[in-house]
Amino acid sequence: MATAAIPQAAPVVLPRHVAIIMDGNGRWAAARRLPRAMGHRAGVESVRAVTRAARTLGIEALTLYAFSSENWRRPAEEIGGLMKLLKLFIRNDLAELVREGVQLRVLGDYRRFPADVVELIDDALAQTGGNRGPILAIALNYGAQSELVEAARALAARAATGALDPAAIDADAIEAQLETRELPPLDLLIRTSGEQRLSNFLLWQAAYAELLFVDTLWPDFGADDLAAAVEAFARRQRRYGGL
Ligand code: FPP
Repeated sequence: MATAAIPQAAPVVLPRHVAIIMDGNGRWAAARRLPRAMGHRAGVESVRAVTRAARTLGIEALTLYAFSSENWRRPAEEIGGLMKLLKLFIRNDLAELVREGVQLRVLGDYRRFPADVVELIDDALAQTGGNRGPILAIALNYGAQSELVEAARALAARAATGALDPAAIDADAIEAQLETRELPPLDLLIRTSGEQRLSNFLLWQAAYAELLFVDTLWPDFGADDLAAAVEAFARRQRRYGGL
């Protein structure tokens, strides 16, 4: 009797590092005739759901673009609302992050934020500093071009003193200066809300990342959407290997 071929489970190609441009909070609120602040508030629920889902899926690092260096151009009231939500998130969720062994990281110059926010962030970083679990990196007052400018300055300063041979500057030397130096390479970059731009986010790191633009507005993006994105990533990887 012929033996039926046993279907082999396809190996799951899990992205090690996923980054998300969380876009569409304002449009989500407008569609409901709500103030923009309500969209951001709903967006925090997605942050919570997606960070939990990333842990469940086994993603090593999740980077979220929460406040860009260009977001200072928004009305003061909206910026104040975002600061309030950030504080609320830390106050409500820090215990869970500590318990789950999450290593919290911040990308960007968050020290330009109000003193009470900086204090909360520093405390959260200290409380999660010794953890060894998945990384949650939050980009706060982050801009990729500034990150690259800083890297260039640091290398140039060392070259000027003679400590570094300019001919020895390679991609690894630049990467070692970036704020993501302790994170795994970026595998998957997702932007919600249908916009197809990188908006000064992880420009160097995105060099080899898979880009996924989804129409879903950030407050509607949940655990299932992250799982679908990871599946899409796995399919792209498999097609790549088959060529
Ligand atoms: C983009 O939507 C979203 C932001 C600029 C802020 C993202 C912030 C959060 C989700 C909440 C705080 C984050 C944490 C980590 C607690 P938009 O306002 O540009 O939307 P629009 O393009 O529809 O107007």
